[in-house]
Amino acid sequence: MPALVVEGRKLAQEIRAEVRLATEKLEGPPPGLATIQVGQDPASTVYVRNKHRACAKVGIRSRQIDLPESISESALLEHISELNADPEIHGILVQLPLPNAIDASRVAEQIAPEKDVDGLHPRNVGELVAGRDTLVSCTPRGCMEVLRRHSIEISGARAVVLGRSNIVGKPMGMLLLHANATVTYCHSKTRDLPDIVRQADIVVAAIGRPQFVLGDWIKPGAAVIDVGINRLEDGRLVGDVDFESASEQAGLITPVPGGIGLLTVAMLMVNTLEARCRLGSR
Ligand code: GUN
Repeated sequence: MPALVVEGRKLAQEIRAEVRLATEKLEGPPPGLATIQVGQDPASTVYVRNKHRACAKVGIRSRQIDLPESISESALLEHISELNADPEIHGILVQLPLPNAIDASRVAEQIAPEKDVDGLHPRNVGELVAGRDTLVSCTPRGCMEVLRRHSIEISGARAVVLGRSNIVGKPMGMLLLHANATVTYCHSKTRDLPDIVRQADIVVAAIGRPQFVLGDWIKPGAAVIDVGINRLEDGRLVGDVDFESASEQAGLITPVPGGIGLLTVAMLMVNTLEARCRLGSR
């Protein structure tokens, strides 16, 4: 039986409606999000624009800071310090990737942990690993929302996470582990990858390789979450999963486009609201 195809647009709308309602009920100033983009990477420009559009829809005040590719690391850190001290700003997101000359870890450390809506500050990473409530990267949170809102049983399930990035793979595995899944991390050096994926009740693909995960790797009925966004030479956008073959096997699958990408933006709204609530109206 073909898989249930997750409607990312509909889920994102639901989540945004929840954020809007909560934002309207807040006493004091609205949540505020600042984005910083360094350089003019076209994909980043589209992502940042989508984030600001989502803010406008849910009543989050947003500020866009565009900096030249040539900016020094110290000047970028200074911009972040100003946002850290700004009472109107509750969430700060520095769009990745950054130019090679800038140390992304140093940038993550500069963001006040309470405003770190990407969940990349070492304090937030540590709190996540320790299983404490904290700001967690938006994409893995979006993946968890898909599973929860479709009542996918996570506790006791075997989950395979493909990819070990700080922003998706690593936090994804932690969230699944805390929800009592048995988690296996796979990556470019993993041996016998198809056989490992075949054991998974939940597969999360975040490796950045177009249509890499094939249908015959998928256990019948598994939930397949595709985080990849890859542009083919013919201009088509595809995920890390071969949708056509995988959707014949899976019980549930997220499409690309129209899947996790939309949820990432919606969860950024949730994280910004949460940061505002924690910071109070100061
Ligand atoms: N670039 C692609 N995805 C993301 C994300 O979730 N956060 C940031 N900061 N940059 C990204």
